[in-house]
Amino acid sequence: MKQSLHIPSLKTAHILKDTDLSRQEILSLYQLTNELRRQFMKDRQRSLSLLEGRTLGMIFEKNSTRTRVSFQVGMYQLGGNAIHLTTNDIQLGRGESMEDTARVLSRYLDAIMIRSNSQEKVDVLAANSQVPVINGLTDIYHPCQALTDYYTVAEHLGPRARVGYIGDAANNVAISLAYSGAILGYDLVFISPQEYSLPEVHKKEVVKLMQVSGGTFTETDNAAKGVLGCQVLYTDVWVSMGMEKEAELRKKKLEPFSLTSILLQKAETHPYIMHCLPAKWGEEIQPELQDYDRNLIYEQAENRMHVQKAILVSMMLG
Ligand code: CP
Ligand code: NVA
Repeated sequence: MKQSLHIPSLKTAHILKDTDLSRQEILSLYQLTNELRRQFMKDRQRSLSLLEGRTLGMIFEKNSTRTRVSFQVGMYQLGGNAIHLTTNDIQLGRGESMEDTARVLSRYLDAIMIRSNSQEKVDVLAANSQVPVINGLTDIYHPCQALTDYYTVAEHLGPRARVGYIGDAANNVAISLAYSGAILGYDLVFISPQEYSLPEVHKKEVVKLMQVSGGTFTETDNAAKGVLGCQVLYTDVWVSMGMEKEAELRKKKLEPFSLTSILLQKAETHPYIMHCLPAKWGEEIQPELQDYDRNLIYEQAENRMHVQKAILVSMMLG
């Protein structure tokens, strides 16, 4: 089956941040995603051999539902194995260095996926790993999420669309959406209070990438104006993992940026809605939107598995 698939050879050894992949590589990953998904639906058995004998280690310093299950099931569907390694269980949690963890795990595993509270730690893991490392969320980036989200957007709207992100535009999901959107050439509108806008250092890079891809980046703190014309409205929690101490302040400042049915009407486009989940229904998104007819939220969650299968195959076989 491998021969009949278009498996991209990625230039990067690891996926640590969105800019590790080029536009062409992302599009090739989407093509492989389509092929793997089609083959799996058609003939479940045949697709079960691609990663036979291979094992993915999944290190988690933070909680996860989607990332853990989609990677684990994705590996099983491809004939491989996945091991769930929480920092409570492995010696990393008792102070063993990231360097030694990488050196040792590289000898057992074929790839490592890590969710960490620090991008720096993930970079150190990769620098000392002999096998591919995939970022499954850090304090700064969530590249697998953003890659999947633009796959989902492209399925519904094609390669150009006006995508609005509303809420905490300084968090990991927003930052990755900005970078991947810039690489792919989407028209992004970031809507947030100024203190939670996309950090300047990332904004500069995003604008540079847009000059190459032809996308655009605009930002506003006026929710009603910002949503006008958006074909997608995306939001994420106001209090990300590790920010619990700031919860009350954030909820107060971000309250005017909640996704409501009234705000959706102001878009005047019948926009799709997206959320990486987990959601706080009643905070950044109102419960009435669960049954909204253009809700892509659960499709995004499903697509995590399909896109990550393409990532795993490309990194291990490409
Ligand atoms: N969206 C996402 O990464 O979900 P989890 O935190 O459940 O993995
Ligand atoms: N911004 C959220 C995303 C969870 C998938 C967080 O970091 O908690």
